[in-house]
Amino acid sequence: MSEMKEAIEQVLSELNELKCSTQKEVEQARIHFLGKKGSVTALFDEFRTVAPELKREFGQRLNEIKKIATAKIEEMKTAVGETSVKGASGEDLSMPGDAFPLGSRHPVSIVRQQIVDIFRKVGYTVAEGPEIEDDWHVFEALNFPPNHPAREMQDTFFISNGHLNPLLLRTHTSSVQVRTMETQPLPIRVVCPGRVFRNEAISARAHCIFHQVEGLYIDENVTFADLKQAILMFAREMFGPDAEIRMRPSYFPFTEPSSEVDVSCNICHGKGCNICKGTGWLEIMGCGMVDPNVLEASGIDSKKYSGFAFGMGVERIAMLKWQVNDLRHYFENDLRFLEEFSTATEV
Ligand code: PHE
Repeated sequence: MSEMKEAIEQVLSELNELKCSTQKEVEQARIHFLGKKGSVTALFDEFRTVAPELKREFGQRLNEIKKIATAKIEEMKTAVGETSVKGASGEDLSMPGDAFPLGSRHPVSIVRQQIVDIFRKVGYTVAEGPEIEDDWHVFEALNFPPNHPAREMQDTFFISNGHLNPLLLRTHTSSVQVRTMETQPLPIRVVCPGRVFRNEAISARAHCIFHQVEGLYIDENVTFADLKQAILMFAREMFGPDAEIRMRPSYFPFTEPSSEVDVSCNICHGKGCNICKGTGWLEIMGCGMVDPNVLEASGIDSKKYSGFAFGMGVERIAMLKWQVNDLRHYFENDLRFLEEFSTATEV
C-alpha cells in the first residue's frame, strides 16, 4: 500500500504546484488530473486492489483528492479567465456588449423606391412638389371644372375656403405633373412619388394619408400602345415575369381614354383566391392618355404632342406584394410588423 500512498502524495504536490496562464493550459491540466486517463482517475482504478480493511481510509482520501483537484481546476479557470479579459483600467472585457439594433427602411418606403427605380431604369426622372397645393394644380389644370361632380371623387381637405384658388392638401400627385408640364421642356418623362391626403374614414382598405407614385410621359406620337407597354413592363418588374395585365375602361377628368389596370393575381396565378376575391385579378392603378385640355392648360400644343399618365397607391402595391390584408398596419409603427421587412430587398 505504500505505493498508493506515494502516488497520492505525488498527485497532491503536483496539484499544489499547479499554475496555468491560459484557458488551454487549464484544460490540459484538467485532462492530466481528471481525464479518463488522468492521475486522479488512475488512483480510483487502483483503489480496487486496496485491502478491505483499508478501503474506508483510502476511499475518504481519494474523494478528498478529487475535490481538491476539481476545486483547483475551477480556481485556475476563473483566474485565467479574469486576467485575460481585464482591460487596462480593470474593466471586464468579457461582458457582453449592449445590443445595438439596426433600424430598417419602412415597407412603404421600400416599395416606393422599387416603383421609382423601375421607371428610372427606362429613362424617367423623379419630380416632387408641395403637399399643400392650390386648387389650380390639383383640380383646375387637370380638367376638373369648378363645381364639377368629378371633384367629389376625391374628398379634399381644404386649408382655406372661399378664394378663387383655395389652398388644400393635395389629393393626388398629379399636381406635380402639372407643375412639371408648366416648367419643364418637352419631351417629359417623370414619376412623381409623394404623400397625398383624402378626407376618408380610416379602414382596412382606406386611409386619410397615403402615398402615390404617378407617372407622365409627353412627346410627339405617344400612343395608348406605349402606355400599355410601359405598364406591362412595370407589372412584370414588380410582380414577376409571368405577370399579365388587363385594362378596364374607366373615367378620370384628366385622361381620355381612361383605364383601370389589373394585374394577374400573384398568389393564385389567375385561378381565383380570397386575395383576388376569386377573380384572378388585382387592381393596381389608374391610367390614360392625357386629355388635350390638360396639355393646353399647361401651355403644351395638343396638336403636336400627346402623352400618357398613370397613378398608383404605394400602400396598395405593398399590400399586394406582401399579402398584407390591412392598410392600417403601415401606419401603426408596430415593430413586430416593421421588423418583418428588415431583410426585404430593394431593386
Ligand atoms: N390621379 C389619379 C388618382 O389619384 C390616378 C391617375 C393618374 C389616373 C393618372 C389616371 C392617370 O386616383
